[in-house]
Amino acid sequence: MSEKITAPAILARKNGQKLTMVTAYDATSAQIADSAAVDMLLVGDSLGMVVLGYEDTLAVTVDIMLHHASAVTRTNPNALVVVDMPWLSYHVSVEESVRNAGRLVREGKAGAVKLEGGRKRLPVVRAILDAEIPVMAHLGLTPQSVHAMGGYKVQGKSIQAARDLIADAKALAQAGVFAIVLEGIPDSLAQIVTQEVAVPTIGIGAGPHCDGQVLVFHDLLGLHKQPVAKFVRKYANLADTATEAIQRYSADVREGSFPAEKETYHMEKSVLEALLK
Ligand code: KIV
Ligand code: NA
Repeated sequence: MSEKITAPAILARKNGQKLTMVTAYDATSAQIADSAAVDMLLVGDSLGMVVLGYEDTLAVTVDIMLHHASAVTRTNPNALVVVDMPWLSYHVSVEESVRNAGRLVREGKAGAVKLEGGRKRLPVVRAILDAEIPVMAHLGLTPQSVHAMGGYKVQGKSIQAARDLIADAKALAQAGVFAIVLEGIPDSLAQIVTQEVAVPTIGIGAGPHCDGQVLVFHDLLGLHKQPVAKFVRKYANLADTATEAIQRYSADVREGSFPAEKETYHMEKSVLEALLK
């Protein structure tokens, strides 16, 4: 087992080998992703949609995040575990934000937290950093802003929006975040941000010029049958594989070929004879 990956180690990878990150919502997905030697596991609030079936991420609470983060960190992965701060856990006050980030570390064993938004989140980001908790930022298409954005739309397309995003990234990097997720923005804007900030950028739907990439576990494995966004590459079709396996199991049960001899326990003959007497 190599040394555990830390937030400072991720920061030090700027201009180094590209960083890889994948979401993990439970012990099984964490073990699978960690055994593939990714750099970071993201306990993303996307779990609200992907594993809890909500319409968006807004229903997710700190308690829900802790439930899933704990399952991931119990597997003691080598990868850095980054846990999302859910909506409204860092919007009410700076004090409440620090307490919530602290719960993700103390109870969820997070190695870092991630929160969405730019300069307007700076007081909160600074306070969490002051509490010695590494922070990953998240700019561009920020799903917790779904109503404010008027839907899930590519961001940073106008000159003003692009300038704002660059200024946000610079301010966050200056404040001390160890990395910035760039989601749903044009490739050229992500390239500019990546050149302009001294911390790694982690792209999702942000083109190839970022310092790393992140994808949702279930999307990249084809573990669900919902249509996926343009930016997803599906490396497997595990939903089809799983459905087919369960169909075969079900057929075997119905025709009586499962369980077979090798899948069955037996009682000692003398005990059985006594039982039947
Ligand atoms: O919740 C999540 O999965 C995320 C990634 C898409 C960056 O925040
Ligand atoms: Na998220």
